[in-house]
Amino acid sequence: IRHLREAGDLDAADATLILDTARELARLTGGREVKKLPTLRGRTVVNLFYEDSTRTRISFEAAAKRLSADVINFSAKGSSVSKGESLKDTALTLQAMGADAVVVRHGASGAPHRLANWVDGSVVNAGDGTHEHPTQALLDAFTMRERLGRLAGLNVTIVGDVLHSRVARSNVVLLNTLGAKVTLVGPPTLIPVDIASALGSGMTVSYDLDAVLPASDVVMMLRVQTERMNASYFPSAREYSRRYGMDGARMRRLPEHAIVMHPGPMNRGMEISPEVADSPRSTIVEQVANGVSVRMAVLYLLLGGK
Ligand code: CP
Repeated sequence: IRHLREAGDLDAADATLILDTARELARLTGGREVKKLPTLRGRTVVNLFYEDSTRTRISFEAAAKRLSADVINFSAKGSSVSKGESLKDTALTLQAMGADAVVVRHGASGAPHRLANWVDGSVVNAGDGTHEHPTQALLDAFTMRERLGRLAGLNVTIVGDVLHSRVARSNVVLLNTLGAKVTLVGPPTLIPVDIASALGSGMTVSYDLDAVLPASDVVMMLRVQTERMNASYFPSAREYSRRYGMDGARMRRLPEHAIVMHPGPMNRGMEISPEVADSPRSTIVEQVANGVSVRMAVLYLLLGGK
């Protein structure tokens, strides 16, 4: 594949190759001293971020640098975007500077698809509007496989603000490709009515978190995206937390082996309690660490590293 615009760009073989390559790259570069590999020497990766990010932007930068690529970081804030320059003209400017890959985060769903028509290099979606965040889904799948040993047949429960979540969308698609069973849980106002038909067959919807916990191998809590939300369809924070928040009592109803995930950033005390976020079942910090290896694998495979 040339681009990673959405999880649907990957079939099971592609996705498994990325996860296996990430494992090998983690082995080669891990340990107490992080080693650099020379595989992308002379190649240029541009991080084109129109929306804020901590984890994704830093981990793409770390991943590219660990593969010895040159990295250009572009943030819309402080750029000529404030003078009205379009995404296309910005992309062509970066292209003229020799980008082999453009990693893009944008508030508009579909921006990476548009970008792929304008640049010669590979485009990697680092989160577009409420559409997709495919490398987040890959690092989540990697984390599940490392902790639980497999993906096929796992019961993965994704909880919360599905409506606005590009993380949920990419996870549903990728986990379906890799044979896991997904249950989406949340208030009816935050689960799109057409999501089952839009995103595939291996998925069910529930509005009762307590009912699905005992059969869950993985519970993935989503951030409540109040910045994208209309107050009329959001229950109060207290009510939300009572019905859909993961707290210590709910965590103790999970099977012994089950893990709790969150893509970050978290609203501690709303969708997840500090007791759960900081518990041994939580994979939140591992997800961040695994993100670097997975993004290395994506860049390595898209750019044909040697
Ligand atoms: N999970 C995630 O995409 O985090 P950032 O917004 O900090 O990149």
